[in-house]
Amino acid sequence: MDAPARPLAPPPLRWGAESLWEALQPVLPGCSVEVVAECDSTNTRLLERARHADADLSPCLLVAEQQTAGRGRLGRAWLSAPGRSLTFSLGLPLAPEHWGGLSLAVGLALAEALEPRPAAAPRLALKWPNDLWLRDSAAAAGGRKLGGILIETVAVGRQRLVVVGVGLNIAATPPAADTPALNHGYAGLQALQPALSAPAALAAVAVPLAQALKRFEREGFAPVQAAFVRRDLLAGQPVLVTGSGAPLEGQADGVDGLGALRVLAGGQCHRIVSGEASVRLAPRG
Ligand code: BTN
Repeated sequence: MDAPARPLAPPPLRWGAESLWEALQPVLPGCSVEVVAECDSTNTRLLERARHADADLSPCLLVAEQQTAGRGRLGRAWLSAPGRSLTFSLGLPLAPEHWGGLSLAVGLALAEALEPRPAAAPRLALKWPNDLWLRDSAAAAGGRKLGGILIETVAVGRQRLVVVGVGLNIAATPPAADTPALNHGYAGLQALQPALSAPAALAAVAVPLAQALKRFEREGFAPVQAAFVRRDLLAGQPVLVTGSGAPLEGQADGVDGLGALRVLAGGQCHRIVSGEASVRLAPRG
């Protein structure tokens, strides 16, 4: 009797590291590109390297097909699966005058690269301060989370290295039925572009991300504030802010030129700047 057919292994991912390297050089001279099959967390790896570096802070794009200890904001875990998600970090020295709004500028660069010319209202939206969502009128919260950004910095000598970690869901369905309940629903980029692969998503975002970081260093967040507004998931929505002092319930009113979230509550406009803040869409009524 024939042995039962084994399921075919998925084809190996082709990352085109050389083309990425070439495309990145004009924007980040000396940037290296590394792709690994597995590591704990691409952010952790780049931070560790920087802590042990003397003065060499060359930019590095590190991609992992699989992370065994992926990290999200506020100490949360970040789950991903090879081929079904894109996980990478870009580390580079950066010296902006103000850091406020960096995660918003990064999110905007990713969204614009992945959905460059939306025919109508953009479907890729940004949820302050570090989430990418897919707008979906059928979802209770107006959308579902599609990706996240984790920005960390480390001082090396007199310079500061920033590590921008990006996790994007590619597959349209969540990794596994036994995945713990996802707080914000789940969406993947294949809902927008069914044939998109993780390497193709990386090829689309790598250079725009590097350009956005260099622009942020020169000009800050203010020049891209208007473009952020077009993708602001929270604008005009009732929100509950926790983690930055007493919980605050109010209405989101956009962001200011330094990337602070404005929340109208009790006749006042509150500016939320804390990196510890967590914002939920509050039920209306
Ligand atoms: C969040 O939504 O809380 C941020 C998620 C960031 C995940 C990315 S995946 C690549 C990089 N490495 C990590 O461990 N985290 C970031």
